Amino acid sequence: MTDSFALADAAAQLIQKRTTLRPQIALVLGSGLGGFADSLTGATRVPYSDIPAFPRSTAIGHAGQMVLGHAGSVPVAAMQGRVHLYEGYSPQEVTFPIRVFGRMGIRAVILTNAAGGINLSYSQGALVVIRDHINLQGANPLVGPNDDRFGVRFPDMTHSYAKEYRQIARDEAGNLGIPKHEGVYAGLLGPSYETPAEIEYLRRIGADLVGMSTVAEVIAARHIGIKVLAISCVTNMAAGILDQPLSHAEVMETGERVKTTFESLLRAILPRLSQDVKE
Ligand code: HPA
Repeated sequence: MTDSFALADAAAQLIQKRTTLRPQIALVLGSGLGGFADSLTGATRVPYSDIPAFPRSTAIGHAGQMVLGHAGSVPVAAMQGRVHLYEGYSPQEVTFPIRVFGRMGIRAVILTNAAGGINLSYSQGALVVIRDHINLQGANPLVGPNDDRFGVRFPDMTHSYAKEYRQIARDEAGNLGIPKHEGVYAGLLGPSYETPAEIEYLRRIGADLVGMSTVAEVIAARHIGIKVLAISCVTNMAAGILDQPLSHAEVMETGERVKTTFESLLRAILPRLSQDVKE
C-alpha cells in the first residue's frame, strides 16, 4: 500500500523548497476561474508535473500549476486547475492536493467551482456560497484503511462549510453589491451532464446546485481539520430548466464573464479569513 501521508509530505517539502512563503490559506480555482492566480504578486509557480505524486488535470480550462503569492497582503497557495473523478482519477488522487495543503500548514481552503443552477432564484452568472453538500459521486476519499495521522476514521460532517466563513462571504458579497446566495451542492460523478429527470430528482432531495467536483475535497479537508469555504459560479441553469442543451463552451463563457466579480469577492474575503486562521 502506498503511504499517502509520506507522499503528501514529500510534495509539500518540494513546494516549500521553491518559496519562503508559508501561506495558511489555499484556493482551488475551478473551470474558467484560474485567472485569479495570475493576479497574485511576488508569485512562485510550481507546475503540477514538478510535484511528486501530484495529479495533472486533463480538463480544458485547467492550467495545472500551484501558484504561491500574495493577494493584497495575504499570502495564499492557489491551485490553478484541479483533477476530477470523471477524468478517471481515484478519490485518493483527487484529494491528494488537499492533503499536501495539510502538510504545508494550510488551515483554511476556499474551493471554487462551476455549477449548474437548480434553484430557480439563481440566474446564470450567480455566485452561490455552498451551505452543505449531497455526495452522489459514488465515492469517498476516506474509503480504505484510515491513516490516523490525517484524521479520525469517522469524521463529522455537520459543520463542514464553516458558518462564520459563509457569513463573511455573504457580507463581502453585500459590500460589493453582488446578490447574496447560499445553497446545497449536489456532487455527481459526470462527465455527462444530468438529464432533466435527474435535475428534478436533485431539486426534490434539496439540492440548489449541481456539479462534478468539490465534494471529495471537502471530505478530505474536514478529515484533516482544514476549514472550508466553497463558492459556486452558476455557469448555466441545470438541464431541463431552460429549453436548451448544455455545453462546456457555455460553462467557460459564463466563467469568463463573471471572473472579475468572482475575483473581487475572493480578494475581499481573504483578509477576513486570514484574520481567522491567525486567531
Ligand atoms: N451540471 C454538472 N456540472 C456542471 C454543470 C451542470 O449543469 N455546470 C457546470 N458544471
